Amino acid sequence: MSDSKSTHITWHEGDVTRDDREKRLGQRGVTIWLTGLSGSGKSTVAVAAEKELLSQGRVAYVLDGDNVRHGLNSNLGFSPDDRTENIRRIGEVAKLFNNAGIIVLTAFISPYRADRDAVREKMDDGDFIEAYVAASLETCESRDVKGLYKKARAGEIPEFTGISAPYEEPAKAELVIDTDGQSVEQSVAQLVGYLQEKGYLTR
Ligand code: ADX
Repeated sequence: MSDSKSTHITWHEGDVTRDDREKRLGQRGVTIWLTGLSGSGKSTVAVAAEKELLSQGRVAYVLDGDNVRHGLNSNLGFSPDDRTENIRRIGEVAKLFNNAGIIVLTAFISPYRADRDAVREKMDDGDFIEAYVAASLETCESRDVKGLYKKARAGEIPEFTGISAPYEEPAKAELVIDTDGQSVEQSVAQLVGYLQEKGYLTR
């Protein structure tokens, strides 16, 4: 990367390969990148899918926006640049998890198409599945799970996605999960079914 400050560093390969780990786990490492408005259901679907996969004997892990912003990304806000850096770091973390053979479910608004595309670019072919968690702004606002839309409308939260900051819908999502029109169970079945059908679950 051109702005990297790390110089004179050499990648060190381990003796255990990704393939070894994937064979042991009976799955292919993959990132399901859930994107959508706040309140669209990204975390709900991710958490339910993680539970379903674990009950099937898979290893899956959720990376969630609110959680990651408590630690790894606690120094980032919601300006366009900070959101870009948020997504870049998560992409790198997801890549490491995939190398460990783990199925990663990310739940970040990730409002900018270019940021999502940059993560896709950095990953190996087939490792990145973009899943658009689609619910209308009206639905998300009426759910207002965290009471943030009300605050954003009142001008108490600047740059709030969907109200005073943009959300760019995916142009080429592998999956569209319509949480307006289907239950959480149906969304999980759709997601896990996709992994099954595409050969990510190997036993
Ligand atoms: S992202 O845009 O950088 O991908 P991320 O998914 O990490 O966002 O965090 C979104 C969560 O942060 C929301 O679900 C909400 O709880 C909280 N949040 C706080 N301020 C904002 C804001 N200005 N815009 C969107 N979400 C916000």
